[in-house]
Amino acid sequence: MKKINVNTSTPYEVLIERGSIKKSGELIAGITKSRKVAIITDDIVGSLYAETVTDSLKDNGFECTMFTFPNGEQSKNLSVLGQIFDFLCESGITRSDMLIALGGGVVGDITGFAAASYLRGVDFVQIPTTLLAQVDSSVGGKTAIDISGGKNLVGAFKQPALVICDSDTLKTLTAENLSCGMAEVIKYGMIRDRDLFEKLECHNLENVHEIMDDIVYTCIDIKRDVVENDEFDKGERMILNFGHTLGHAIEGWHNYTDYTHGMGVAVGMCLITNKFAPELSERLKKCLTAYKLPTDTEAPMAELLPYCSKDKKRAYGNISYIVCKTIGVAEIRKSTVSEFEKFMEV
Ligand code: GLY
Repeated sequence: MKKINVNTSTPYEVLIERGSIKKSGELIAGITKSRKVAIITDDIVGSLYAETVTDSLKDNGFECTMFTFPNGEQSKNLSVLGQIFDFLCESGITRSDMLIALGGGVVGDITGFAAASYLRGVDFVQIPTTLLAQVDSSVGGKTAIDISGGKNLVGAFKQPALVICDSDTLKTLTAENLSCGMAEVIKYGMIRDRDLFEKLECHNLENVHEIMDDIVYTCIDIKRDVVENDEFDKGERMILNFGHTLGHAIEGWHNYTDYTHGMGVAVGMCLITNKFAPELSERLKKCLTAYKLPTDTEAPMAELLPYCSKDKKRAYGNISYIVCKTIGVAEIRKSTVSEFEKFMEV
């Protein structure tokens, strides 16, 4: 089993091994004295993996309860969060017990926020089952829900107590879901790791499983390094947002329906690279296309820019955005919203 230690304000391990979900009870028993857990999952992931996780927990002496909500971003809201709180209360979950997020980014984000706020904080374990959740959202402690004003606008930093990554779970993903995670993987290559980017250039969506263990480990290790340097997102951590300012705008333009986060990030990386490093554009686009990701959008720039001015990273009237002029090297740039609008105007 590979281990990555994340040395944040509360340190924890990320465990990476094929089949590790079957040992989740034993692994969780190693980090808590409590023998009571609440699993939070969605209907799709729950139908695939809840029994395996529950059996393993019960074999290791845990009493388990489980809350399931409908799969999808539309569940990451105040109403489902309220249902989770009620469920935890009715199940008698106390501060010494543990929540388990079993699923993709939506499950991890809402469970993490419930863990940050229920009883002013209970521990939680991430068992991410999508590529995006394994390489990005399960590590680093960002938790959130969406509100009508936008995605992830209400949340907290809450590091998990343990992350269990089983890359076998990625085999059940749809091509679209895998492709969505690959946008974040390509982003890591662009911002920090030329070797990773070059490996990705030699593969495609059909054969990427051959190098999946290596990819998951490399991306988590990059994220660990960035998060350890800037846990609370005041500086370096912003590089993880390469492609995201415009990516979130495109997702918003599509009303967060039929347009995945990965598609938004892919196009966002292309738009910013077209503008600030046109010499890299063709290479980036070729790589994204190999993973069936889009490289352009029908959304007019003038209609995307208002979404950018609502970006979470906006502070003191400035917007931060990330530019990669060399593969593997990211720069954080700041400008006023109106300057950014001028740069991006076509
Ligand atoms: N997903 C970006 C971050 O964790 O900062």
